[in-house]
Amino acid sequence: MSFASLWESLLPIGRDAGTGGYRRYSWTPADAECRRWFFETAAERNLRADADRNGNLWAWWDVPWADSEAAVVTGSHLDSVPDGGAYDGPLGVVTAFAAIDLLRERGLAPVRPLAVAAFCEEEGARFGVACLGSRLLADAIDPARARALTDAGGTTFAAAMTAAGHDPAALGPDPGLLAGVGAYVELHIEQGCALAGMDAAIGVAERIWPHGRWRLTFTGRADHAGTTRLGDRRDPMLAAAATVLAARGAAARHGALATVGKLTVDPGAVNAISSSVTTWLDARAPDEARLRALVDDVLTQARTAAVAHGVTLDHAQESVTQAVDFDAALRDRMVAALAAAGIRAPVLPTGAGHDAGVLAAWVPTGMLFVRNPTGVSHSPAEHAEPGDCLTGVTALAAVLTDLACS
Ligand code: GLV
Ligand code: MN
Ligand code: MN
Repeated sequence: MSFASLWESLLPIGRDAGTGGYRRYSWTPADAECRRWFFETAAERNLRADADRNGNLWAWWDVPWADSEAAVVTGSHLDSVPDGGAYDGPLGVVTAFAAIDLLRERGLAPVRPLAVAAFCEEEGARFGVACLGSRLLADAIDPARARALTDAGGTTFAAAMTAAGHDPAALGPDPGLLAGVGAYVELHIEQGCALAGMDAAIGVAERIWPHGRWRLTFTGRADHAGTTRLGDRRDPMLAAAATVLAARGAAARHGALATVGKLTVDPGAVNAISSSVTTWLDARAPDEARLRALVDDVLTQARTAAVAHGVTLDHAQESVTQAVDFDAALRDRMVAALAAAGIRAPVLPTGAGHDAGVLAAWVPTGMLFVRNPTGVSHSPAEHAEPGDCLTGVTALAAVLTDLACS
């Protein structure tokens, strides 16, 4: 099976030697190398590869006599969170190419077009909005807003895309492309360890929790750390700290999850009270009412903390993804195809976001999970055993055989 060599060829790209984590951010040199890898991998397989107007990559196994039939698409993303693991995203792209190889080894060919996709800026690690490429494709974000998104250095998405040789004027919904897709199946490393507890290598996704990102900026007054009396301070760090703790408490009260994993401090001097602190809240809940209640609770406490410390609060919702129930018919069909291939696959919910969740508004989508023994993800410690990855290829090939070859 070709999985191991494909995996090895992608592995060095964008890995930081110091942390062992991946820094594959959109439109950077590491991203360009990943894109080159995608095109070369497609070319080696005689798949027709192109980038769509939103920077998403597609590798097509064309079926000229059946090109009017809706395609079956599989894939994931190649970008990473800061110091992310090797598997989140790439596992879905590599298994997709390896599953195509397996179909060919078995002498199978699709009776409708079959494609591998790699979506742009899925993690939102550089420009802040998760699943940006699939959102643009699926009309779930205004292209003008996407063009104006900035990274930490102030570079806009449009400028970064232009520098990488893509035209940002073309960004936006592509109903024609979506209309040609009959099903999208994304294989992904499990982000949790439920499968390990069930002694199963493969799972099938049931639904994605609603989730989103909020920015909270507290602005106070910079001053001297050694001379400003405690009572005279307007320290935004104190309001930010209270909000981080409030998020944790609110998450526990609402049966949800809340995380502040990113914070910027200005001006960032050891011996100065900061002038402003920006925190980003990642919030997720089993249903939309609980997500709303959680975020309202955190914002109320953030406002109270701001008043208590004499600072101002400015906040904005950066992205929200509603709850996604994956297509039940496709899910049942995948479970049946896996069972026929001798693979028991429990059905699981997930708190992680995916392009399959965004595309679900337009196209029947489904997901396969590959067991993660520790459950750790968004970390260099993320891992799947090689044998489970190979079972992932076999599982995906079984699903593609059912959806595309019959
Ligand atoms: C993507 O991995 C997300 O859920 O943030
Ligand atoms: Mn991720
Ligand atoms: Mn992912």
